[in-house]
Amino acid sequence: MNTVTTLRELRTAIAQARAEGKRIGFVPTMGNLHAGHVSLVQIAAQRADFVVASIFVNPLQFGPSEDLDKYPRTLAADQEKLLGAGCHLLFHPDVSEMYPQGMASQTRVMVQGVSEGLCGASRPGHFEGVATVVTKLFNMVQPDIAVFGEKDYQQLAVIRTLVRDLDMPIQIVGAPTQRAEDGLALSSRNGYLSAEQRAAAPALYRSLQAIAEELRRGARDYQRLIEAAQAQQRQAGFVPDYLEIRNAISLRPAVIDDRHLVILTAAHLGKTRLIDNLLVELPGQ
Ligand code: PAF
Repeated sequence: MNTVTTLRELRTAIAQARAEGKRIGFVPTMGNLHAGHVSLVQIAAQRADFVVASIFVNPLQFGPSEDLDKYPRTLAADQEKLLGAGCHLLFHPDVSEMYPQGMASQTRVMVQGVSEGLCGASRPGHFEGVATVVTKLFNMVQPDIAVFGEKDYQQLAVIRTLVRDLDMPIQIVGAPTQRAEDGLALSSRNGYLSAEQRAAAPALYRSLQAIAEELRRGARDYQRLIEAAQAQQRQAGFVPDYLEIRNAISLRPAVIDDRHLVILTAAHLGKTRLIDNLLVELPGQ
């Protein structure tokens, strides 16, 4: 696996792969990779001949109170994981390579609708930063397919909408959330948890499972289900941010007749903000 840091080197390597008739798969990341990322690269390797990953901690998607500088940089370990997962090329630019004109004057991409509410409400500007960097990375790599985790469900919806609305010829593949044995969704942020917090953390997923079970049993009083699940989160030591039941496709608040649902939550455990979601397919009427 080759690691390149400049756009010029990236374009040369991609042009060569294209000249060899290869189909390009792409996995954008911010590094500090875990088994969830590895599964994204493996999926890309199954569907493409030449797999490109990027590691770029994107300042544009961090809020002023979010600790950009503290984000773990673990390049050597990440390179090993990418190689093992079947990655051919790693793009690891620095901030001046990604934003050569500076960030203040950078053209921004705003995806309306799906960026609003949920994490978009708690993290103003976050999805604009994500949509902008992903648009740039897509233009740099020009992949045939790109793989994103369903763990960041709203982000996946933002990217699907972006690609559709801006006519990008890229197939977006959503990859199932990878979980620890006790149900906790794998996330770079799990590394911030103390041993005690890590033991309490699976309660977040259990709160989603409790709602899903009630929905499958026929419950439709969404507000009551949400309040009960948030009480469950509080009991485990979480401070809830949001918990919502939405249409899994449009991401609009669910109505009683919706059959494809997604339950999405964010909650703080100490200083760490964790997110999770669960898809629920209900039988048709
Ligand atoms: O999910 C992430 O790691 C980031 O939001 C992404 C998609 C790499 C954009 O910086």
